[in-house]
Amino acid sequence: MATHVSSEKKPFHLKGNYAPVDTEVSATDLTVRGSIPEELSGRFLRNGPNPKSGTSAHWFLGDGMIHGIRLRDGRADWYRNRYVRTRAFLEPDAKLIGDDGTVDRTIGVANTHIVGHGGKILALVESSFPCEVSPDLDTIGSYDFEGRLDTAMTAHPKMCPVTGEMHFFGYGFFEPYLTYHRVSPDGRLVQSEAIDVPGPTMIHDFAITDRHVIFMDLPIVFDLELAMQGTMPYRWDDDYGARVGIMARSTDDVATGSADVRWFDVEPCYVFHPMNAYVDAEDRVVVDTARYRQLWRGSSSDFRDHATLHRWRFDLASGGVSENELDDRPMEFPRVAEHLTGLPNRFGYGAGGLDGTALVKYDLEAETSQLRELGPNGMPGEPVFVPAADPESEDHGWLMTYVYDKARDGSDFVLLDARDIDAEPVATVELPQRVPFGFHGSWIDDAGIA
Ligand SMILES: [Fe+2]
Repeated sequence: MATHVSSEKKPFHLKGNYAPVDTEVSATDLTVRGSIPEELSGRFLRNGPNPKSGTSAHWFLGDGMIHGIRLRDGRADWYRNRYVRTRAFLEPDAKLIGDDGTVDRTIGVANTHIVGHGGKILALVESSFPCEVSPDLDTIGSYDFEGRLDTAMTAHPKMCPVTGEMHFFGYGFFEPYLTYHRVSPDGRLVQSEAIDVPGPTMIHDFAITDRHVIFMDLPIVFDLELAMQGTMPYRWDDDYGARVGIMARSTDDVATGSADVRWFDVEPCYVFHPMNAYVDAEDRVVVDTARYRQLWRGSSSDFRDHATLHRWRFDLASGGVSENELDDRPMEFPRVAEHLTGLPNRFGYGAGGLDGTALVKYDLEAETSQLRELGPNGMPGEPVFVPAADPESEDHGWLMTYVYDKARDGSDFVLLDARDIDAEPVATVELPQRVPFGFHGSWIDDAGIA
């Protein structure tokens, strides 16, 4: 006999605005309040889990869905949402790990991020190969860098603004647990290096400076028992310790690898997302993160602890580490201007507020932060910063995000002036359906996919 699960008993990720939408919409007749800057010519694309079946064992496990908005000539040309039609979507019985133990990295939900590099748009999930999508959000298929990639790819690659390279890593629960990869500006995978770590931990993101690659080996450890249950196979481990590895980046003459990583012990914690990293005036490596004091101690559905902006400073000369909280506001999805990835940044942005109702802007030079509520019912996602064409300051540009309005159960695309986030939005585009809370997105400028 079929039983019905009352909405109260549903896990959080299937309720309210975490619940999936079941329609793929294409809309061209969009209502805009304010005005869209004419110089913005591209696409704001955001990825997130949206299980096709309507249900998934964990928030992180639903099929990827891209919500995109096309801006051009001061207009919002279209809004579209599309499933990423991965093999996991098309063949629900296909397994990442087969019964004989073989791993098929073409199987994955591609639900976490979407980035542009080397003329391609890639939807990403950390268990698998990327999945390429077209500028119109049609799925092209699994992409393995012409057969060169043989590990998973993080959903958080880093594009170096100095070299144009893409740096990323793959992690997994079989050895090598961690592998670093480097991609040339034109999209060729040119270097892969296994990096030694003591065990299989969940490594969601990493950081670069203009001279270093920075890995975080933190105590959320693979658990086979959880894997057998078909849920998120990681949990907090008090015995694992916590360390950050800093590797000099390869140059034209010298390829660096695991032997070049210097590991620093840090206070146990978990970090999904660094904001940025760079070398400071005293030659220390600074890494700013959204840091949880602990996470998933009992259950991987436990998100009660919140992250705050935290700074590690690593002194490569003395081996010393300093740690301090920069701000006590709850915050996640930290971002900076991408042309400063790996370089000193004054400003940072995030989604935050105790109830997830605000955007946060940090001025790390003035040591201040500013909270921008989005109305009594507005709940913003990750803010993506897009610089003005001819910027007069680091924060001269726009913050873009989708904002869910609880009261009308609908969503808007909102553009704020990043210099003055308290001002009325520069533009608000009313969307024809709600956009479920999701993960990460990018502004894909037309110049990047021409
Ligand atoms: Fe992430």
